[in-house]
Amino acid sequence: MELRVVSGEVSVVDTTVIAGVLADLEPLPGSEVVGDVDEALVASSGFEGKEGQVLSVPHPDAETLILVGLGEAPGFKELRAASGTAARKVKTGRAVTLLAASGIDGATRAVVEGSVLGAYQYRTYKTDGEPLDLSELELVDGDADALAEAEALATATNLARDWVNTPARDKSPSALAESIAAAVSEAGVTTEIWDRSRIEEESLGGVLGVAAGSDRDPVVLKMTYEPANPQAHLALVGKGITFDSGGLSIKPAASMEEMKDDMSGAAVVSAAIAAIATIGLPVKVSCIAPLTDNAIGGDATRPGDVLRPVDGPTIEVLNTDAEGRLILADGLGLVKALEPDLTVDVATLTGAARVALGDKIAAVFASDDEVAESVLQAASVAGETFWQMPLHKEYRKQIDSDIADIKNISGTRYGGAIIAALFLAEYAGDGPWAHLDIAGPARGRETSGEHVKGASGVGVRTLVELARSLGEAG
Ligand code: BES
Ligand code: MN
Ligand code: ZN
Repeated sequence: MELRVVSGEVSVVDTTVIAGVLADLEPLPGSEVVGDVDEALVASSGFEGKEGQVLSVPHPDAETLILVGLGEAPGFKELRAASGTAARKVKTGRAVTLLAASGIDGATRAVVEGSVLGAYQYRTYKTDGEPLDLSELELVDGDADALAEAEALATATNLARDWVNTPARDKSPSALAESIAAAVSEAGVTTEIWDRSRIEEESLGGVLGVAAGSDRDPVVLKMTYEPANPQAHLALVGKGITFDSGGLSIKPAASMEEMKDDMSGAAVVSAAIAAIATIGLPVKVSCIAPLTDNAIGGDATRPGDVLRPVDGPTIEVLNTDAEGRLILADGLGLVKALEPDLTVDVATLTGAARVALGDKIAAVFASDDEVAESVLQAASVAGETFWQMPLHKEYRKQIDSDIADIKNISGTRYGGAIIAALFLAEYAGDGPWAHLDIAGPARGRETSGEHVKGASGVGVRTLVELARSLGEAG
């Protein structure tokens, strides 16, 4: 989608105009054109300016006027959602939106994010139907700098969505690595793709153990963004299971259906480093994404096998379906050696996180409350929903192993997200660290506002805001 800021006399011939309506049918500031609309027509449609409502009506000059309801006292989130709803409703190639002229804090960002995210479609495998019409959006009285940043954020989020939505067959670890490397290099990120022999040289026993059952070789993707005067060093690690069958501890069919999503963490950290580089934040970012299938084959890791990750405790694998933590152990070990100021890992790690918080809230665990608070603060700026969970040390003994240093599951299914986080803490080192378990919200269940059914890209914008705050704190 092409986006630009316009002001003064804007020609609306052949376009769709998008205007905001408050409760009681008052126009949103900047959307005064709403006052000219035939009241009887609006009344008969049932449109009352309530949040989420949308109505197309005739406009004297434009092709159509789309009214979006914003309720009583709309803020950033309402404006973003309404922009997404409107973007899907536009039936012309070009549209002019009045919503950025509303005077609401962050209005331009809300309109750009809402429009670009809400109009997202994954059509690679569709041979019928038509893509959405909207291709050019003009923001009356928008802010050009805010537009550019918001576009970088939303485009990166859609990039992550594309990778996650891709069927597992078509994203072998090496193919996915190539696709990610191509996209992030364009943003100025340097990349290294480690093949199996390099992974062996680096002694990444966790990655090799998970990959052992697959005919497709694992890959470790290393990405670095280094601006001129970095104020801080952020390390990111993303879980990149290209398909999670469960391995020999095989999943039941219904639980396997959505397991192409299991590389969401890798997609999110990759999209985030791309956006950070595009925006040019003054923070060095080092990113590791281990990519592998968790498949079943003659030499697959067996329950009871022991793995040696690059650093930290040896692992008795009692359940091959708790595989994300095995590759993250290596990823965390690798970034620990770089001594960053903050490490964040992102993973669709546990069904338990989804049970605890549902499909719309991501879990954050952190080495201390200050780190957790910085993630929650970044999420709040980004307009993503995170909730802090406890890294309850008393549970740690549940993963003591009889024959190795640690085992990859506890004896119960209770507190599974916490157990997984405690496992990761063993590899994260003593520095500031946060673990984002996005197993619930990585996939959107319905299309509404800026949300689209399918991969959500949740976490990308929070990571960028976190990097921004690190850069500012210096
Ligand atoms: N990828 C799954 C977690 C998951 C579940 C993500 C549902 C998204 C939706 C992970 O690898 C897994 O299988 N975890 C197991 C851990 C268990 C064996 C300790 C789980 O959550 O059941
Ligand atoms: Mn699994
Ligand atoms: Zn998994």
